[in-house]
Amino acid sequence: MSLKIGLIGAGFMSGVHRANLERDDRVRISGIYDVDPLRAGALAVASVDDLLEASDAVYVVSPNTTHVDMAMKALAAGKHVFCEKPMATTLEDAQRLHAAARASKTVFQVGHNRRFAPVYKNVKKLLETSPAHCAHIKMNRGELLNPAWVGDAAVTGGFLFETPIHMFDMMRFLLGEIVSVQARESRKDDYSMLVEFDGGQHATFVTSADTSWFFPYESVEVYGEYSTIRTEEMEKLEWRIGLDKPTSVENFANLTREEKWGFAEEDRLFVDAMLAGSKPPVTSYDGLKSVEMTMAVYRSAREKMAVSLEL
Ligand SMILES: NC(=O)c1ccc[n+]([C@@H]2O[C@H](COP(=O)([O-])OP(=O)(O)OC[C@H]3O[C@@H](n4cnc5c(N)ncnc54)[C@H](O)[C@@H]3O)[C@@H](O)[C@H]2O)c1
Repeated sequence: MSLKIGLIGAGFMSGVHRANLERDDRVRISGIYDVDPLRAGALAVASVDDLLEASDAVYVVSPNTTHVDMAMKALAAGKHVFCEKPMATTLEDAQRLHAAARASKTVFQVGHNRRFAPVYKNVKKLLETSPAHCAHIKMNRGELLNPAWVGDAAVTGGFLFETPIHMFDMMRFLLGEIVSVQARESRKDDYSMLVEFDGGQHATFVTSADTSWFFPYESVEVYGEYSTIRTEEMEKLEWRIGLDKPTSVENFANLTREEKWGFAEEDRLFVDAMLAGSKPPVTSYDGLKSVEMTMAVYRSAREKMAVSLEL
């Protein structure tokens, strides 16, 4: 018997998840709800309620500020939920959704896909042999023009919720719990941060929204004892661990986008968790922590002071 999965939203990310799910024999797409029914095509349903009625699980892939209401509704109906990032765009909403997800008997997974990108999985593996001391990170966007709503803070929650939130989650994944952040901003779209972790490590992180698509717009450098690990996008990993060792290189450019960006594995693992009744690989707590960090950066930049993370 296949799992019936519906999608809320019929845009770019809906298409990415749908294609992965259609390749999975364990799944049947039960319908698609979009405010614009034409975008949902042949699988369109008339309402979220109709979609929930027809589904065991839903993907919330509508714009950011719609996620909480959709996800809360699906949990209340006893459905499994895959919620794209950001899980919410206020701390209160993230806490409310986290509480509902914890209380539910269903699986709730957040779309922090980079955890499943081979480049970052391999960085994490390398850090087991050569622990991090500090790091230098950047994550830029080329523009905030496409799709049109990504430049509208009323729909995204703000630039940090749209793009850098990926790296807030990645910093936790690679370096440990974030305990404090000191940030500066200009134009609400350029940020510099000094981030401290619970193990004593620290990192600098710079992000800017409209730098043109200059490659690599995303990179992580992690430094340890006689060691440097460096990524370029999700395309390439280079590392040198040990003073007399050569530099090693691993290239992921030839993988499909779904594999390279971690989308294929996150969808596979969501289905695994639903079938096994097990904990998903990215939980509502992970989603909450990335929202907490986002809010901490906004506050630190506004008040020009270090902000602690305490949840
Ligand atoms: N994990 C990633 O790497 C990644 C990448 C891109 C986008 N995203 C996230 O995925 C979500 C969707 O982004 P996208 O790029 O697919 O956007 P998109 O604009 O391509 O698609 C959004 C769709 O949602 C529909 N929609 C708008 N309001 C709705 C509502 N109230 N109910 C139902 N449908 C509604 C729109 O008509 C549109 O078809 C966003 O939250 C975004 O942050 C994640």
